[in-house]
Amino acid sequence: MIDCRGRVINYLRISVTDRCNLRCLYCMPQEGVKLLDHSKILTFDEIEDFTRIAVSMGIDKVRITGGEPLVRREITTLIKKISAISGIKDLSMTSNGILLSQFARQLKEAGLMRINISIDSVDPVKYSQITRGGDLDMVFNGVDASLKAGLYPVKINCVVDKNSDEPDAIAVSHYAKSKGCEVRFIPKMDLEKGSFGVVEGGNGGECTKCNRLRLTPNGMLRPCLFSDIELDIRKLGSQKAIEEALAIKPIKGGHNNSGKFYNIGG
Ligand code: 5AD
Ligand code: SF4
Repeated sequence: MIDCRGRVINYLRISVTDRCNLRCLYCMPQEGVKLLDHSKILTFDEIEDFTRIAVSMGIDKVRITGGEPLVRREITTLIKKISAISGIKDLSMTSNGILLSQFARQLKEAGLMRINISIDSVDPVKYSQITRGGDLDMVFNGVDASLKAGLYPVKINCVVDKNSDEPDAIAVSHYAKSKGCEVRFIPKMDLEKGSFGVVEGGNGGECTKCNRLRLTPNGMLRPCLFSDIELDIRKLGSQKAIEEALAIKPIKGGHNNSGKFYNIGG
């Protein structure tokens, strides 16, 4: 599918939950996160139906995100449903890795092709500070389990202040190399201020080349992370919501005052 600015849109990012088992400093407040009511969250059948229609219209790349996707109950059931849709060439997930040692094999068997795991520091104390209590060893075990399960390529997502010259980023890079993993360095962004940057090693942050649509856990289709535009797939129906999203996808990112990374997906 082609949007109003001639960009080819083939990438759908699906946030399956706004819940997370970590509280990264730059993503979620410590307490008082306003979470969606369970009744508002799309069912697996709704997500599957939407994805099927999106694929019939030209999506061939799908990423499952959150929050933390592995805290959604029965997530492997959803992966099975999505991987059964013909026309998807690339099915991936972004996870914080905490639960991956438990899930990697099941995910692979369900049809997940590959995984990105978030690691901002390989110093356990620093990691615990950034994530407010995360256990780095669990994540390392998750990386090993993903490699063992064959979720190739396993990529590491590393949020940096500015770029990959920072000490934590360099250390993450060494760790990744030792495991044969690629790293994506993601500049710390601020949705409300509209500050965003290009992902080093990836393809995020370049508006002229943007190929994405995002589906939130409660069924809002968002054509741009840095905009408040959202289309309700339950009200409009999937096809109409996609058509409208393509028609009004912004030429470039601005500000977003109505959503956060943990409920839109990073
Ligand atoms: N800036 C950049 N990336 C962010 N993420 C969450 N919050 C931010 C932010 N403020 C991304 C991280 C993480 C993923 C789940 O969401 O890359 O790996
Ligand atoms: Fe959770 Fe990811 Fe947000 Fe950290 S960045 S709190 S792991 S959703």
